[in-house]
Amino acid sequence: MVQSAKLWEIEMEIEMEIINRSVSIKDHVEGAPEESDFELKTDVITTELILGSNDVLVKNLYLSIDPYQLNRMKKYSSSHETSNFAAPLVPGKTVDGYGVGRVVASAKAGFEKGDPVAGVIGWEEYTLVHQGTMLNKLSTTDFPLSYHVGILGFSGLTAYGGFYNVCKPKKGEKVFVSAASGSVGNVVGQYAKLFGCYVVGCAGTKQKVELLKNKLGFNDAFNYKEESDLKSALKRCFPDGIDIYFDNVGGEMLEAVVANMNLFGRIAVCGVISEYIDAKARVSPNMLDIVYKRITIQGFLAGDFISQYADFIALTVGYLRSHKLHVLEDISIDIESIPAAFAGLFRGDNIGKKMVQIAEK
Ligand SMILES: NC(=O)c1ccc[n+]([C@@H]2O[C@H](COP(=O)([O-])OP(=O)(O)OC[C@H]3O[C@@H](n4cnc5c(N)ncnc54)[C@H](OP(=O)(O)O)[C@@H]3O)[C@@H](O)[C@H]2O)c1
Repeated sequence: MVQSAKLWEIEMEIEMEIINRSVSIKDHVEGAPEESDFELKTDVITTELILGSNDVLVKNLYLSIDPYQLNRMKKYSSSHETSNFAAPLVPGKTVDGYGVGRVVASAKAGFEKGDPVAGVIGWEEYTLVHQGTMLNKLSTTDFPLSYHVGILGFSGLTAYGGFYNVCKPKKGEKVFVSAASGSVGNVVGQYAKLFGCYVVGCAGTKQKVELLKNKLGFNDAFNYKEESDLKSALKRCFPDGIDIYFDNVGGEMLEAVVANMNLFGRIAVCGVISEYIDAKARVSPNMLDIVYKRITIQGFLAGDFISQYADFIALTVGYLRSHKLHVLEDISIDIESIPAAFAGLFRGDNIGKKMVQIAEK
């Protein structure tokens, strides 16, 4: 009897305390990130939540690996003060970011143990999500949970909002997408094709270019790393000019696009990844072209389109169910793979949505 009581106590102890491994930056990161910029820590956390706190303890399953995090890792970036999502990261503190998980314990009404959720969690195995932090229960659960990180998550919403709202496409228009095999880019290109546009993408390897042309149905694609003159490469692909540019990279590609843009062209600036690792990569486009061709250049954030979330899901789920949209996921396994997964974004290692699977269920 005494022995079984002891056993019960030990089990309770095991249940109430869990090991949590997490990833943080050792110091601010300037330039291209390297695996050695990160450290893995181990802590013990409790599963007992304070009643009335509205906290939710989440077991993290899939973490989104995103280029914008690099700007948060810098000591200074002009993006830091613009949005909560862009707030600077503190060395030694767990990196927070978007992901999908399952509720382990909840002090919040409407969230039950076992519920699948998506929101701002962390580069760790378990996250205690406090009141006020974005966390939503997932309802469309007949798709793999990983879809809610990419195609049905912020990458998809970014592609949707940027293409349909910012680019304002018309059927038959000529669309160029950079980083076209990446998470956002591949979806933009597929939306544009399905909408009835002529679509060309660029990417950094032969394999990616083949994928764009042969699997995703792009009209044309080229490897920007093999082109000595980007303006000529674009002229070759768009002899009649570009109407829409979905910019993921910035730098000299933007300059080359503006030179090839048609009158009243639109440029949706989604991101400028080439400048994240090297501020000197910034190149000013010819502003005289912007004036005389009456080109619109507009930056945007995915969050600007949160009110259109239901429309985005309806369209995208429809395309998925009718097998019109290919889903590209690039999943690394285990928390220890986060540094390499993140650094790989800036080397062009990924094809499609980069994420890290922390646990299976
Ligand atoms: N505005 C928003 O709300 C929002 C939301 C999500 C993402 N973004 C931005 O959108 C862009 C794409 O993000 P993502 O999540 O879809 O990433 P991603 O495209 O899946 O991954 C990054 C890709 O960028 C390319 N790349 C890396 N360094 C480059 C360089 N110096 N020059 C040209 N290309 C380079 C690489 O492909 P290659 O092999 O083709 O070089 C790499 O695979 C990023 O700029 C990101 O910050 C913005």
